[in-house]
Amino acid sequence: MDEPDELNITNAVIDRLRATADPRLHEVMTSAVRHLHDFVREVRPTFDEWLTAIRFLTRVGQISDEARHEFILLSDIFGVSMLVDAINHPPSPDVTDTTVLGPFYTEQPPEHAQDADIAHGAPGEPLRVDVEIKSEDGKVLPDALVDVWQSDSEGFYDVQRPELIGPRLRARFRSDQNGHVRFRSIMPTAYPIPHDGPVGELLKLTGRHPWRPAHLHFLVAAPKHETLVTHLFVRGDKYLESDAVFGVKKSLIQSFADQCDDKETRCLRYTFRLRQALRKGV
Ligand code: BEZ
Ligand code: FE
Repeated sequence: MDEPDELNITNAVIDRLRATADPRLHEVMTSAVRHLHDFVREVRPTFDEWLTAIRFLTRVGQISDEARHEFILLSDIFGVSMLVDAINHPPSPDVTDTTVLGPFYTEQPPEHAQDADIAHGAPGEPLRVDVEIKSEDGKVLPDALVDVWQSDSEGFYDVQRPELIGPRLRARFRSDQNGHVRFRSIMPTAYPIPHDGPVGELLKLTGRHPWRPAHLHFLVAAPKHETLVTHLFVRGDKYLESDAVFGVKKSLIQSFADQCDDKETRCLRYTFRLRQALRKGV
């Protein structure tokens, strides 16, 4: 066996992976080793620098729990979440654009009837939402599950407010026979992603701000269709051009115009179009 040196160590590690039973895992691990070694050869870290990187990742793990997803934030600020999105959801004119899920989604949000008010008394500018769910071929989709979640008027999600007893500004709806979901809420506001941990420190050290432009989140699931994960952004928000997580796509920027009879309220109308799932074996 050769003595390990700066170049042959890479092949030695790759060679050690040859017994990996799962071919995809073998491919992924081999590529990870190759790229990681190339990165280290390019950057040529000192021992202190390497230890700083290891301590950083340790702190990312230590601050993480069920409610604090620091690794998701890390993936988001590196643009990796949006890169994975771009690879898996190439744009199509017939299908709504996707964007990041983010760390504030919760499984099984409380189911609400049409026209419910999901703000549950949270202060803010009143908003009415009426969205329609369609397939990419234009057919309406009744009975689709539509999960929504958003920030409050101070830029916080319910899961960031331990003083709240139950979910707020978060709900699950079922589209009606015409494919519509209607609900009442308040206008979402721009907010900084959690930046009191290692990811926030990295943003600061690299001269970046932590802000996301105001948006509503939607996760739409219908049989025989790919689940759509997306946002609708508020036109005019000052962070649309510099979203900390690179999640903005032009087609998702909407004017929450005064389209309601009630002059006090803002309105959002939008049609989501879901991609048909590829049938297995075809
Ligand atoms: C969000 O939109 O909820 C979000 C996305 C990425 C990082 C932090 C928050
Ligand atoms: Fe968000």
